[in-house]
Amino acid sequence: MELKKHLQPHAVLIPLPLQGHITPFTHLAMKLASKGFTITFVDTESTHQQIATAQSLKDGDNPFSHGQKCGLDIRYAKISDGFPLSFDRRANARQFMKGLTHVFQTHVDDFIENLVLSKPNPPISCIIADSFHVWGSMIAKKYNLVNVSFWTEPATVLTVFYHMNLLKSNGHFGSHDKYEDTIRYIPGVQTIKPEDLPSYCQDDDPSACNYVFKCIKDAQKADFVIGNTVQELESSTISALQVQQPFYAIGPVFPTSFTKRTISTSLLPASDCTNWLNSKQDGTVLYISFGSLANLSKQDILEIAQGILISKVSFIWVLRHNILGSGERNILPLGFEEETTGRGLVVPWCSQLAVLSHPAVGGFLTHCGWNSILESMWCKVPMVCFPVLADQLTNRKLVVDDWRIGVNLCTRGLIRRELVAENIGRIMSRSDELKKNIEKTKIILQNALSDEGSSEKNLNQFIEDMKNKILQK
Ligand code: UDX
Repeated sequence: MELKKHLQPHAVLIPLPLQGHITPFTHLAMKLASKGFTITFVDTESTHQQIATAQSLKDGDNPFSHGQKCGLDIRYAKISDGFPLSFDRRANARQFMKGLTHVFQTHVDDFIENLVLSKPNPPISCIIADSFHVWGSMIAKKYNLVNVSFWTEPATVLTVFYHMNLLKSNGHFGSHDKYEDTIRYIPGVQTIKPEDLPSYCQDDDPSACNYVFKCIKDAQKADFVIGNTVQELESSTISALQVQQPFYAIGPVFPTSFTKRTISTSLLPASDCTNWLNSKQDGTVLYISFGSLANLSKQDILEIAQGILISKVSFIWVLRHNILGSGERNILPLGFEEETTGRGLVVPWCSQLAVLSHPAVGGFLTHCGWNSILESMWCKVPMVCFPVLADQLTNRKLVVDDWRIGVNLCTRGLIRRELVAENIGRIMSRSDELKKNIEKTKIILQNALSDEGSSEKNLNQFIEDMKNKILQK
């Protein structure tokens, strides 16, 4: 039995049911399965319904059906997140997050208990929970599983969270009167301005902050943390993290990295922009998207739209129906779409990797979601940054100040159409420095994923260390 466990680990993967988390989790599942793991992937019923609708899945199919037919041992399960399918999780985010802490935990607990009782072959040996769940360590302990936390954001953000006490003792936590300071005391983070801290360290929304802090506390108890980042991008930060806990940078975790079998993880139906892009010259189109969660104000949208008009750039703009955070449908200023006919395409959602990898795309106006940044780097597309919340504020600093592969759209909170146009122009004209840096970053990512690269080696090391840990159980 011990030998069997050693040879084939069986991991239960549980993402946070949000787009930016489901995507890397799905690819992680494929990656681990292709390295011999048995995977039980746990989706929520609501997520499954969205994916099934968006991908027109046949009854009984799941996102891994193709991988399963190709011999990967991925078992797919869906459990309730505690809310009816008709419940608007986005509009009631606070209530939803509360449910994820309590009700969802009970459902996960019941699910694992039943799974253990069903004596699966091989037996489950490990849980890989999203670092944004608060109960990973409790479940791992209860069922004697190896406890792995998957961190889907940059290591810098995790490091900042791990040192919240330092921020508090230095008066930089939730404080708005020390904005001019430069923070130099976080191990592994050379310098950071208070305005670049994750919003949860600046916000006064106590419920969101408390949730994140509980998650971080729980992640600190994990046997291993795996991160969707790259050693060479954040080397000193990762070294500092490793002093605290075994941390393995295994990113970027997306299809190009491990298999030719692509898998769509979109929760929304995607418009196909290929024909439109085919009609444009190389490097002339600006792609605009603010990810799956961020809300913008009507004023932000207005200034961006006017900036686009001034810049005369060709563009694809992903405007989710709920981007304003309200049911309001009139998102764009009157006449905008007519005025940009032919040079602009507005869609509610698209296949982002397909768009970014099209040669016509020359720039990306982004909210700085971490998946978007990794995808943009991979496709060698420099960024214009407009961070809105959470890790996006810190991610902006990495992109613009540290790696120099993007520019700011504007000073935070001060969006002006002339500045928007100017910065779009800067990114589309691709200075030699931007071009050189984005090429360099792509090579870093590519090398990391090669057989002898850091992410591949880290992943293999993680698997070996995890197997040893299983044997100790
Ligand atoms: C959020 C946070 O903003 C992010 O920083 C954190 O790391 C995860 O949670 P989100 O707003 O979803 O994420 O942004 P991002 O991380 O960029 O993920 C969005 C994903 O949706 C990307 O993988 C992107 O390719 C995909 N996408 C986006 C589409 O497939 N189509 C679109 O039209 C827009």
